[in-house]
Amino acid sequence: MTLETRDILNVTNLHTYFPVKSRGIIPRTIGQVKAVDGIDLQLASGETLGLVGESGSGKTTAARTILLLVRPTEGHIEIDGQDVTGFSTKALLPVRRKAQMIFQDPYNALNPRHTVGSIIAAPFRVQGVTPPGGVKNSVLDLMERVGLNPEHYNRYPNEFSGGQRQRIGIARAIALRPKLIVCDEPVSALDVSIQAQIINLLRDLQQEFGVAYLFVAHDLAVVKQISHRVAVMYLGHIMETASREVIYSAPLHPYTHSLLSAVPIPDPKQQRHRTRIVLQGDLPSPIDPPSGCVFRTRCFQAQEKCAVEVPPLVEIAPGHKVACHFPIETKDLPARVEVEDVEFQEEAPAVEDGGAVNGKDSGPPVPTVPASSPHKARR
Ligand SMILES: Nc1ncnc2c1ncn2[C@@H]1O[C@H](COP(=O)(O)OP(=O)(O)OP(=O)(O)O)[C@@H](O)[C@H]1O
Ligand code: SF4
Ligand SMILES: [Mg+2]
Repeated sequence: MTLETRDILNVTNLHTYFPVKSRGIIPRTIGQVKAVDGIDLQLASGETLGLVGESGSGKTTAARTILLLVRPTEGHIEIDGQDVTGFSTKALLPVRRKAQMIFQDPYNALNPRHTVGSIIAAPFRVQGVTPPGGVKNSVLDLMERVGLNPEHYNRYPNEFSGGQRQRIGIARAIALRPKLIVCDEPVSALDVSIQAQIINLLRDLQQEFGVAYLFVAHDLAVVKQISHRVAVMYLGHIMETASREVIYSAPLHPYTHSLLSAVPIPDPKQQRHRTRIVLQGDLPSPIDPPSGCVFRTRCFQAQEKCAVEVPPLVEIAPGHKVACHFPIETKDLPARVEVEDVEFQEEAPAVEDGGAVNGKDSGPPVPTVPASSPHKARR
């Protein structure tokens, strides 16, 4: 596919903090949840950027902030060349024609008291748009386009399966032919076979309309199927971003290596010989993130410098950016790595999550490597 070079989305230095309040009669702000802590993202027309990271890394907050469903604490959001950061709800109305969202949970994303026809027609109503041929005909066309039976126009969401409900959500999102759709885990709640159908539908729609997707997911296998580029997020920061090919075949960030090492390989022989990186403990608290590199408390490459200097996101090859003082190539990974420095586990219970994102992709068990590993993390 030929991609236009124009950015449909340009996010700079985006921060979203949520205040932590004290209890009592007069609550005071006693801290901040740094859910998104200074990210930059660009997305070209017709492109898909996969945003991955384990649970709590800030993906949903970033996605919702980009569409101003949550207001940013700092930074800028440009959609189709227009800085929309400070727009009022009213000023955002025309922007919503260009930028839509598909949600993770098709069960909760649809109003159970509205018919399918009424749900898909909502964007036309809200925007005051009457398409040629009328709203009803457009809705019927949309239903057909996303694989729903137009005869079900008057049915209610509870009469549909999960996959069909997601199709309803997709029809609603594409009704006004937006240039950007932010998809927050759109297939995570669906069975694997249905996931593939929905991914194919999203890909077909992209080919047809040239829409760009910011595709949020925890499952690297799903992201690989749809993304042109991938951004890896950890504790509110972008750790690495590159083309799909580079992220999956030549990653450099220790966190990306650990995520990929948890994705099972179908070939058992290859699976046996690959490096497996087992991160122990959970994500540190975003209220009090580690100094320096936020990944250092779980990183097998961490050295003294990592505790004092924040690694900037640096472009080390065209289109490949990495935020790490000591990036590492796959060929240089030790045979197996188990990060188990107890010094770093004060805030985190010693639960082995297998480096899996959301713990849903834990892969086969790995023998424990003694703490004498040369890659043992140090403060
Ligand atoms: N409204 C809120 N108020 C306070 N903290 C919040 C709020 N929304 C999210 N957070 C916190 O921000 C951090 C990032 O959450 P977010 O939901 O963005 O992560 P995520 O990467 O989407 O995770 P998941 O994969 O579980 O969906 C978490 O620590 C979460 O508890
Ligand atoms: S080597 Fe240092 S900078 Fe790089 S990811 Fe690990 S802790 Fe962060
Ligand atoms: Mg989320």
